[in-house]
Amino acid sequence: MSQLAIVYHSAHGHTEFIARQVHAGASEVDGVEAHLVRAEDIARTPEDLVGYDGFVFGSPTYLGGVSGPFKSFMDSTGRLWRTQQLEGKLAAGFTVSSLPSGDKQSTLLSMFVFSMQHGMLWVGNPILPEQHAGVPYDEAANRLGSWSGLMAQAGHAAPADAFVPGDVKTARMFGRHFARSLERVLVPA
Ligand SMILES: Cc1cc2nc3c(=O)[nH]c(=O)nc-3n(C[C@H](O)[C@H](O)[C@H](O)COP(=O)(O)O)c2cc1C
Repeated sequence: MSQLAIVYHSAHGHTEFIARQVHAGASEVDGVEAHLVRAEDIARTPEDLVGYDGFVFGSPTYLGGVSGPFKSFMDSTGRLWRTQQLEGKLAAGFTVSSLPSGDKQSTLLSMFVFSMQHGMLWVGNPILPEQHAGVPYDEAANRLGSWSGLMAQAGHAAPADAFVPGDVKTARMFGRHFARSLERVLVPA
């Protein structure tokens, strides 16, 4: 079984809700075992990352970047960077914010650069925006039009599961796509 870790931080539950959708989508793929991993937990034992084949990173967008706890997780991997122990693993990212744009792109870019510094292989989000095919905007896959990673949006102070159906669907498709990519790219040792 390929081992996939969805490493996320969530202060108020929105990012965790999306992480669970990504997990559900990934779990539909035979041969892949998906794990939900809190960034704060694995930051204490970053060497555990070596045991996974791929990572989907998730953070809320805070002031146009990753959250503090997610950055602490990233910084905890410095020793792994020196020895490039994550080289060749697959990586992808998602972020949640309260505004339609909210500068989510720079959060994804931060995860991308982090993954590149570790020598990982980045997996994007190839889902075509379904509103172009006539699906109502709130129900459309990739309605926010993000290809570098997964974006989702929930209103400020909304309940943690208050995402439109399109974002829930996109997160599941994204998880499925990442898990299939793992299966396609990874050559058994
Ligand atoms: C300190 C802070 C900064 C934030 N900055 C942004 C931002 O730049 N853009 C945005 O759209 N939302 C911003 N938000 C809103 C969060 O991204 C949003 O509430 C998100 O759903 C929180 O995720 P969580 O429930 O997983 O903690 C910010 C929230 C906080 C607390």
